[in-house]
Amino acid sequence: MTDRLPVLNSGTGTPLVLLHAFPLSARMWQRQLAELPGRDGTEARVLAPDLRGFGAASQGDDEPSLDLLADDVALLLDRTGIERAVVGGLSMGGYVAMAFARRHADRLAGLLLADTKATPDTEQARANRERIARAVLARDSVQLLLDEQLPHPQLGAATARERPEVVRQVRELTAQASPAAVAWAQRAMAARGDSLEVLAGVAVPALVVVGEEDAITSVADARAMADVLPDAELRTVPRAGHLTALEDPAAFNTAVRSLLARTASAALRSRPQG
Ligand code: MLT
Repeated sequence: MTDRLPVLNSGTGTPLVLLHAFPLSARMWQRQLAELPGRDGTEARVLAPDLRGFGAASQGDDEPSLDLLADDVALLLDRTGIERAVVGGLSMGGYVAMAFARRHADRLAGLLLADTKATPDTEQARANRERIARAVLARDSVQLLLDEQLPHPQLGAATARERPEVVRQVRELTAQASPAAVAWAQRAMAARGDSLEVLAGVAVPALVVVGEEDAITSVADARAMADVLPDAELRTVPRAGHLTALEDPAAFNTAVRSLLARTASAALRSRPQG
Protein backbone atom coordinates (compact mmCIF):
# COMPACT_ATOMS: atom_id res chain seq x y z
CA MET A 1 0.00 0.00 0.00
CA THR A 2 1.07 3.56 -0.50
CA ASP A 3 -0.28 6.58 1.34
CA ARG A 4 1.15 9.02 -1.15
CA LEU A 5 -1.11 8.88 -4.20
CA PRO A 6 -0.84 12.25 -5.95
CA VAL A 7 -4.33 13.60 -6.53
CA LEU A 8 -5.96 16.31 -8.61
CA ASN A 9 -8.70 17.97 -6.57
CA SER A 10 -11.54 20.39 -7.27
CA GLY A 11 -14.85 21.51 -5.73
CA THR A 12 -16.33 21.09 -2.26
CA GLY A 13 -19.54 19.01 -2.61
CA THR A 14 -20.22 15.26 -2.56
CA PRO A 15 -16.87 13.41 -2.66
CA LEU A 16 -16.38 11.75 -6.06
CA VAL A 17 -13.23 9.71 -6.69
CA LEU A 18 -12.42 9.16 -10.37
CA LEU A 19 -9.96 6.39 -11.30
CA HIS A 20 -8.20 6.63 -14.63
CA ALA A 21 -7.91 4.20 -17.52
CA PHE A 22 -4.80 2.29 -18.62
CA PRO A 23 -2.24 3.61 -19.58
CA LEU A 24 -3.33 7.19 -18.84
CA SER A 25 -3.25 9.30 -15.67
CA ALA A 26 -5.45 11.58 -13.58
CA ARG A 27 -5.02 14.20 -16.31
CA MET A 28 -7.61 12.35 -18.41
CA TRP A 29 -10.28 13.77 -16.05
CA GLN A 30 -9.65 17.46 -16.86
CA ARG A 31 -13.19 18.12 -18.08
CA GLN A 32 -14.71 16.31 -15.09
CA LEU A 33 -12.48 18.25 -12.65
CA ALA A 34 -13.49 21.50 -14.35
CA GLU A 35 -17.22 20.87 -14.77
CA LEU A 36 -18.56 18.45 -12.16
CA PRO A 37 -18.11 20.76 -9.15
CA GLY A 38 -20.83 22.91 -10.80
CA ARG A 39 -21.00 26.70 -11.10
CA ASP A 40 -20.68 27.45 -7.40
CA GLY A 41 -18.21 24.60 -6.84
CA THR A 42 -20.45 22.73 -4.39
CA GLU A 43 -22.02 19.98 -6.49
CA ALA A 44 -19.08 17.59 -6.19
CA ARG A 45 -15.65 17.43 -4.67
CA VAL A 46 -13.75 15.61 -7.40
CA LEU A 47 -10.61 13.70 -6.46
CA ALA A 48 -8.63 12.13 -9.29
CA PRO A 49 -5.57 10.19 -8.14
CA ASP A 50 -2.73 8.92 -10.30
CA LEU A 51 -2.66 5.15 -9.85
CA ARG A 52 0.70 3.52 -9.05
CA GLY A 53 3.43 4.23 -11.54
CA PHE A 54 1.24 6.53 -13.68
CA GLY A 55 1.35 10.34 -13.78
CA ALA A 56 3.23 11.53 -10.71
CA ALA A 57 2.64 8.36 -8.62
CA SER A 58 5.61 6.26 -7.56
CA GLN A 59 5.62 2.60 -8.57
CA GLY A 60 6.65 0.96 -5.29
CA ASP A 61 7.86 -2.62 -5.22
CA ASP A 62 4.66 -4.58 -4.52
CA GLU A 63 3.55 -7.46 -6.73
CA PRO A 64 0.95 -6.45 -9.36
CA SER A 65 -2.58 -6.43 -7.87
CA LEU A 66 -5.69 -4.32 -8.42
CA ASP A 67 -6.62 -4.94 -4.77
CA LEU A 68 -3.59 -2.89 -3.76
CA LEU A 69 -4.83 -0.03 -5.90
CA ALA A 70 -8.25 -0.26 -4.21
CA ASP A 71 -6.53 -0.13 -0.81
CA ASP A 72 -4.55 2.91 -1.98
CA VAL A 73 -7.89 4.62 -2.69
CA ALA A 74 -9.16 3.79 0.82
CA LEU A 75 -5.97 5.32 2.24
CA LEU A 76 -6.53 8.39 0.12
CA LEU A 77 -10.00 8.76 1.69
CA ASP A 78 -8.48 8.35 5.17
CA ARG A 79 -5.85 10.96 4.42
CA THR A 80 -8.42 13.47 3.14
CA GLY A 81 -10.87 12.87 6.00
CA ILE A 82 -13.59 11.42 3.75
CA GLU A 83 -15.68 8.64 5.26
CA ARG A 84 -17.74 7.69 2.18
CA ALA A 85 -17.42 8.65 -1.46
CA VAL A 86 -18.94 7.98 -4.84
CA VAL A 87 -16.18 5.90 -6.44
CA GLY A 88 -15.93 5.59 -10.17
CA GLY A 89 -13.50 4.42 -12.76
CA LEU A 90 -13.12 4.03 -16.47
CA SER A 91 -11.90 0.69 -17.82
CA MET A 92 -8.90 -0.22 -15.61
CA GLY A 93 -10.20 2.40 -13.18
CA GLY A 94 -13.51 0.51 -13.24
CA TYR A 95 -11.76 -2.74 -12.30
CA VAL A 96 -10.22 -0.88 -9.34
CA ALA A 97 -13.62 0.58 -8.39
CA MET A 98 -15.05 -2.98 -8.35
CA ALA A 99 -12.14 -4.15 -6.16
CA PHE A 100 -12.91 -1.17 -3.88
CA ALA A 101 -16.59 -2.22 -3.70
CA ARG A 102 -15.48 -5.71 -2.64
CA ARG A 103 -12.87 -4.62 -0.09
CA HIS A 104 -14.30 -1.34 1.26
CA ALA A 105 -18.09 -1.55 0.77
CA ASP A 106 -18.72 0.57 3.87
CA ARG A 107 -16.88 3.52 2.27
CA LEU A 108 -19.02 3.49 -0.89
CA ALA A 109 -21.78 6.10 -1.36
CA GLY A 110 -22.27 5.40 -5.08
CA LEU A 111 -20.55 3.47 -7.87
CA LEU A 112 -19.69 4.61 -11.39
CA LEU A 113 -18.48 2.05 -13.92
CA ALA A 114 -17.50 3.38 -17.32
CA ASP A 115 -16.30 1.37 -20.33
CA THR A 116 -15.33 -1.55 -18.16
CA LYS A 117 -16.45 -5.11 -17.48
CA ALA A 118 -16.98 -7.40 -14.51
CA THR A 119 -15.73 -10.59 -16.14
CA PRO A 120 -12.11 -11.77 -15.94
CA ASP A 121 -9.72 -12.10 -18.89
CA THR A 122 -9.79 -15.07 -21.22
CA GLU A 123 -6.55 -17.09 -21.47
CA GLN A 124 -5.87 -15.37 -24.78
CA ALA A 125 -6.28 -11.91 -23.26
CA ARG A 126 -3.94 -12.86 -20.39
CA ALA A 127 -1.31 -14.08 -22.83
CA ASN A 128 -1.61 -10.85 -24.79
CA ARG A 129 -1.11 -8.77 -21.64
CA GLU A 130 2.05 -10.75 -20.81
CA ARG A 131 3.30 -10.21 -24.37
CA ILE A 132 2.81 -6.44 -23.95
CA ALA A 133 4.41 -6.40 -20.49
CA ARG A 134 7.51 -8.23 -21.73
CA ALA A 135 7.81 -6.16 -24.91
CA VAL A 136 7.64 -2.73 -23.24
CA LEU A 137 10.14 -3.80 -20.58
CA ALA A 138 12.53 -5.36 -23.12
CA ARG A 139 12.39 -2.29 -25.41
CA ASP A 140 12.20 0.19 -22.54
CA SER A 141 9.52 1.96 -24.57
CA VAL A 142 5.72 2.16 -24.75
CA GLN A 143 5.74 2.82 -28.53
CA LEU A 144 4.01 -0.54 -29.04
CA LEU A 145 0.90 0.79 -27.27
CA LEU A 146 0.82 3.83 -29.54
CA ASP A 147 1.19 1.59 -32.59
CA GLU A 148 -1.32 -1.09 -31.56
CA GLN A 149 -4.01 0.83 -29.67
CA LEU A 150 -4.36 4.31 -31.16
CA PRO A 151 -6.62 5.53 -32.46
CA HIS A 152 -8.27 2.11 -32.67
CA PRO A 153 -9.32 0.26 -30.49
CA GLN A 154 -8.94 2.88 -27.71
CA LEU A 155 -11.03 5.52 -29.47
CA GLY A 156 -14.26 5.28 -31.42
CA ALA A 157 -14.46 5.78 -35.19
CA ALA A 158 -16.25 9.16 -34.84
CA THR A 159 -13.52 10.47 -32.52
CA ALA A 160 -10.73 9.18 -34.78
CA ARG A 161 -12.39 10.98 -37.69
CA GLU A 162 -13.64 14.20 -36.15
CA ARG A 163 -11.85 14.97 -32.85
CA PRO A 164 -8.12 15.29 -33.58
CA GLU A 165 -7.56 17.10 -30.27
CA VAL A 166 -8.80 14.07 -28.33
CA VAL A 167 -6.62 11.71 -30.39
CA ARG A 168 -3.63 13.99 -29.69
CA GLN A 169 -4.38 14.17 -25.96
CA VAL A 170 -4.68 10.38 -25.61
CA ARG A 171 -1.46 9.89 -27.61
CA GLU A 172 0.36 12.34 -25.32
CA LEU A 173 -0.90 10.71 -22.14
CA THR A 174 -0.04 7.24 -23.48
CA ALA A 175 3.48 8.33 -24.47
CA GLN A 176 4.06 9.57 -20.92
CA ALA A 177 3.42 6.14 -19.35
CA SER A 178 6.49 4.34 -18.07
CA PRO A 179 7.25 0.80 -19.31
CA ALA A 180 7.41 -0.38 -15.68
CA ALA A 181 3.92 0.97 -14.91
CA VAL A 182 2.51 -0.50 -18.12
CA ALA A 183 3.93 -3.95 -17.35
CA TRP A 184 2.80 -3.81 -13.71
CA ALA A 185 -0.75 -2.76 -14.64
CA GLN A 186 -1.05 -5.38 -17.41
CA ARG A 187 -0.09 -8.11 -14.94
CA ALA A 188 -2.43 -6.72 -12.27
CA MET A 189 -5.35 -6.67 -14.74
CA ALA A 190 -4.55 -10.20 -15.94
CA ALA A 191 -4.82 -11.45 -12.35
CA ARG A 192 -8.27 -9.97 -11.63
CA GLY A 193 -11.24 -12.25 -10.94
CA ASP A 194 -14.97 -12.11 -11.66
CA SER A 195 -16.80 -9.18 -10.03
CA LEU A 196 -20.42 -9.95 -11.01
CA GLU A 197 -21.18 -11.36 -7.57
CA VAL A 198 -19.68 -8.29 -5.90
CA LEU A 199 -21.87 -6.04 -8.05
CA ALA A 200 -24.97 -8.02 -7.09
CA GLY A 201 -24.30 -7.02 -3.47
CA VAL A 202 -23.75 -3.28 -4.07
CA ALA A 203 -26.34 -1.50 -1.92
CA VAL A 204 -25.79 2.04 -3.22
CA PRO A 205 -26.89 3.79 -6.46
CA ALA A 206 -24.78 2.86 -9.48
CA LEU A 207 -24.25 4.21 -12.97
CA VAL A 208 -22.90 2.21 -15.90
CA VAL A 209 -21.67 4.23 -18.90
CA VAL A 210 -20.47 2.84 -22.22
CA GLY A 211 -19.59 4.28 -25.60
CA GLU A 212 -21.66 2.74 -28.39
CA GLU A 213 -18.44 2.38 -30.40
CA ASP A 214 -16.44 0.84 -27.52
CA ALA A 215 -14.36 -1.92 -29.12
CA ILE A 216 -12.67 -3.05 -25.88
CA THR A 217 -15.54 -3.34 -23.40
CA SER A 218 -18.83 -3.72 -25.23
CA VAL A 219 -22.37 -2.49 -24.64
CA ALA A 220 -23.20 -6.12 -23.76
CA ASP A 221 -20.50 -6.06 -21.03
CA ALA A 222 -22.05 -2.85 -19.68
CA ARG A 223 -25.55 -4.31 -19.75
CA ALA A 224 -24.37 -7.41 -17.87
CA MET A 225 -23.12 -5.18 -15.05
CA ALA A 226 -26.24 -2.99 -15.00
CA ASP A 227 -28.43 -6.10 -14.90
CA VAL A 228 -26.86 -7.50 -11.73
CA LEU A 229 -26.45 -4.20 -9.86
CA PRO A 230 -29.53 -3.76 -7.61
CA ASP A 231 -29.92 -0.01 -8.30
CA ALA A 232 -28.26 0.84 -11.60
CA GLU A 233 -28.83 3.18 -14.49
CA LEU A 234 -27.26 2.33 -17.87
CA ARG A 235 -26.24 5.19 -20.19
CA THR A 236 -24.92 4.50 -23.68
CA VAL A 237 -23.03 7.32 -25.39
CA PRO A 238 -23.50 7.53 -29.16
CA ARG A 239 -20.46 8.28 -31.35
CA ALA A 240 -18.00 7.52 -28.54
CA GLY A 241 -15.61 4.61 -28.12
CA HIS A 242 -13.73 3.23 -25.10
CA LEU A 243 -12.82 6.60 -23.54
CA THR A 244 -16.27 8.20 -23.13
CA ALA A 245 -15.12 10.72 -20.51
CA LEU A 246 -12.72 12.20 -23.07
CA GLU A 247 -14.65 11.54 -26.26
CA ASP A 248 -17.93 13.08 -25.10
CA PRO A 249 -17.31 14.81 -21.75
CA ALA A 250 -20.66 16.66 -21.86
CA ALA A 251 -22.69 13.43 -22.12
CA PHE A 252 -20.46 11.72 -19.57
CA ASN A 253 -20.78 14.57 -17.06
CA THR A 254 -24.57 14.75 -17.48
CA ALA A 255 -24.77 11.05 -16.61
CA VAL A 256 -22.50 11.50 -13.58
CA ARG A 257 -24.61 14.44 -12.32
CA SER A 258 -27.62 12.17 -12.37
CA LEU A 259 -25.73 9.60 -10.27
CA LEU A 260 -24.74 12.34 -7.80
CA ALA A 261 -28.42 13.34 -7.49
CA ARG A 262 -29.52 9.73 -6.93
CA THR A 263 -26.77 9.29 -4.35
CA ALA A 264 -27.89 12.42 -2.47
CA SER A 265 -31.54 11.18 -2.41
CA ALA A 266 -30.43 7.74 -1.17
CA ALA A 267 -28.39 9.36 1.61
CA LEU A 268 -31.43 11.44 2.69
CA ARG A 269 -33.67 8.35 2.71
CA SER A 270 -31.22 6.38 4.87
CA ARG A 271 -30.77 9.20 7.41
CA PRO A 272 -32.39 8.31 10.79
CA GLN A 273 -35.67 10.25 11.38
CA GLY A 274 -36.24 12.46 14.40
C1 MLT B 1 -8.16 0.55 -20.13
O1 MLT B 1 -8.59 1.39 -20.92
O2 MLT B 1 -7.98 0.82 -18.93
C2 MLT B 1 -7.81 -0.80 -20.67
O3 MLT B 1 -8.35 -0.96 -21.94
C3 MLT B 1 -8.27 -1.89 -19.76
C4 MLT B 1 -7.89 -3.25 -20.23
O4 MLT B 1 -6.85 -3.42 -20.87
O5 MLT B 1 -8.64 -4.21 -19.91
